[in-house]
Amino acid sequence: MSILVAGSIATDHLMSFPGKFADSLVVDQLDKLSVSFLVEDLEVRRGGCAANICFGLGNLGLRPVLVGAVGEDFAEYRAWLERHNVDCDSVHVSETKHTARFVCTNDTAHAQIASFYAGAMSESREIELKPIVDRVGAPDYVIIGPDDPQGMLRHTDECRQRGYPFLADPSQQLAFGDGDLIRPLIDGAEILFSNEYEASLITQKTGWTRDEVLSRVGSWVVTLGPDGVRIDRAGEESIVVRAVPEIEKVEPTGVGDAFRAGFLAALSWGLGHERAAQLGCLLAVYVVEQVGTQEYEISRAAFLARCGATYGDEAVADFEPHLQTIRV
Ligand SMILES: Nc1ncnc2c1ncn2[C@@H]1O[C@H](COP(=O)(O)OP(=O)(O)OP(=O)(O)O)[C@@H](O)[C@H]1O
Ligand SMILES: [Mg+2]
Repeated sequence: MSILVAGSIATDHLMSFPGKFADSLVVDQLDKLSVSFLVEDLEVRRGGCAANICFGLGNLGLRPVLVGAVGEDFAEYRAWLERHNVDCDSVHVSETKHTARFVCTNDTAHAQIASFYAGAMSESREIELKPIVDRVGAPDYVIIGPDDPQGMLRHTDECRQRGYPFLADPSQQLAFGDGDLIRPLIDGAEILFSNEYEASLITQKTGWTRDEVLSRVGSWVVTLGPDGVRIDRAGEESIVVRAVPEIEKVEPTGVGDAFRAGFLAALSWGLGHERAAQLGCLLAVYVVEQVGTQEYEISRAAFLARCGATYGDEAVADFEPHLQTIRV
């Protein structure tokens, strides 16, 4: 049995300019704009939703299968993910395009000039899941995260046709997609993930009420930021799990992905939705406390201590046997 994680694979290139962009702009010459800023530092961060989720699963001792499209420049990132227990053998490598890249420069006034290059990501529509399943075994779950929209649709259709259980995680694509894209991405999902804002986008854009969405998915997991998470199921009472108190809030980028990794890990260990939400929250808080989405390390003892302090000894007892493989 296996877990397939489809979605974006990207790097963020972040620079800071020790001045103000506005001082270099001549307003009545903007049609001839040509500026270059001497920046102080360049930070390259590994990201992309599918890669982030895989990193979290790998850290918890699972061996997720990454499904997505990259460029020839992926070698170093691949080695990093493989060191963290991620199966990258089915990643599609484009012959012509680079891996998706976000390039961003900030100035001292928090103004930002940024570009997102989707690059090889558009080739995820060329990926078929069946050969991957033939290689790694029938999937327990296929999670379909934000990616090239055609690729997301193809993976979701294939899951429905072949009967692979799939989890819908359209996230950022909800802002761009219309109802015609979003409806087929959700319909028939075992689990739908969103945050609260995205939950409103889903009902607004699909034209489905909350109950209609619930009639089309097994469960709807709605993350509530520092307030934790709520899980809704048709005809059942919601399950609410509170977040793990942060020690220090550094940067929340990537919390949603870490949450999904924890949630999926608990499900694949055969635990229920409440435990899954708790493990999601536990993993997510590690990301809040770090700069970057793949920089946290889990120490088994500290992880279980935090778990006990927030969710009690029974939760610790349920997680402990599955965390034997954690290295640190
Ligand atoms: N400040 C915080 N302290 C502790 N836990 C947090 C905090 N913010 C988020 N979390 C945890 O992360 C989970 C996901 O957070 P959130 O709802 O903000 O996701 P998101 O909006 O999809 O985030 P993103 O897309 O930026 O990764 C929450 O359910 C919670 O467990
Ligand atoms: Mg999110």
